[in-house]
Amino acid sequence: MRSGPTLLFHCGTGSTLTAPVHGFLDTTMAELDGLLESGQRALDLAVTCVSRLEESGFFNAGRGAVSQADGVVRRDVGAMDGGTLKALGLSQVRGIPKMARLVAALLGQSDHVHLSGQMVERWAERHGWFLEARAEKEDPTFLWDARSGQAGEGTVGCVVRDSKGNLAAVTSTGGIGRMWPGRIGDSPIVGGGFYADNEVGAISMTGIGEAILKVGGGSALLFLLGNVCEGEKDRVVSDFLDRIKSRFLGVAGFVGIDRGGQPFAAHSSERMVHGIVRKDFRQVREVGAGFFPVEPS
Ligand code: GLY
Repeated sequence: MRSGPTLLFHCGTGSTLTAPVHGFLDTTMAELDGLLESGQRALDLAVTCVSRLEESGFFNAGRGAVSQADGVVRRDVGAMDGGTLKALGLSQVRGIPKMARLVAALLGQSDHVHLSGQMVERWAERHGWFLEARAEKEDPTFLWDARSGQAGEGTVGCVVRDSKGNLAAVTSTGGIGRMWPGRIGDSPIVGGGFYADNEVGAISMTGIGEAILKVGGGSALLFLLGNVCEGEKDRVVSDFLDRIKSRFLGVAGFVGIDRGGQPFAAHSSERMVHGIVRKDFRQVREVGAGFFPVEPS
């Protein structure tokens, strides 16, 4: 069992480490490093990390979320606390860029694991949240056709193991390009785009939600990793990504922490920005497809 708090984040399949993004992530990681060392609990850290990524506007989540095919932005988010096993996904929410903060506020308010659309907005309004003026109007010329399925880029997510060994995962997205209005991917689905259980591990997914859900979601990978020895993990991760690509025709990526506390990251897209913060070690990078050991060398 590894000790020491660890935080990993991703900026989505297809994300690019431009100079402004690099600068922003350096500052964000310094802040997260301080919070990690101060003993903040895993869920709070994951929420703060994803909130920063949402606020930046650089990625397809929060301020930067893409619109659906009718011109309207509807955001999805999911969060799970691996200690309490509280989990919640919110989908198709309009007017609220701070989705990680919203799901944190709603987590544990009921036993439900998923809430959607208008009723989430009403809950938020009733509890003092400001809903941004919905400037975007539905495109009246929108036709229901088969235009969905463009590459999904820039979903953001974070997994954390805190100083007490608790795990948490948060994932936030605007979805994929040109999707049908109302389409929901993996990100807000517990076990699909996010999962955390102290006995199993934590994972945040990115990529084409349809393919990720068809393979069984991110939790499937954690359960597979739990059944193999250390030397076999790279193969299991590669096989999982290959299966998503060859059988379900989608790219995917993730950051995770297995039940032994081992961090991991991999993806099958062209590139993905991901980072890690641990005691005396911070690293962010953009890498091509593959499996990445994220330990300090
Ligand atoms: N992975 C994000 C989505 O498919 O919506």
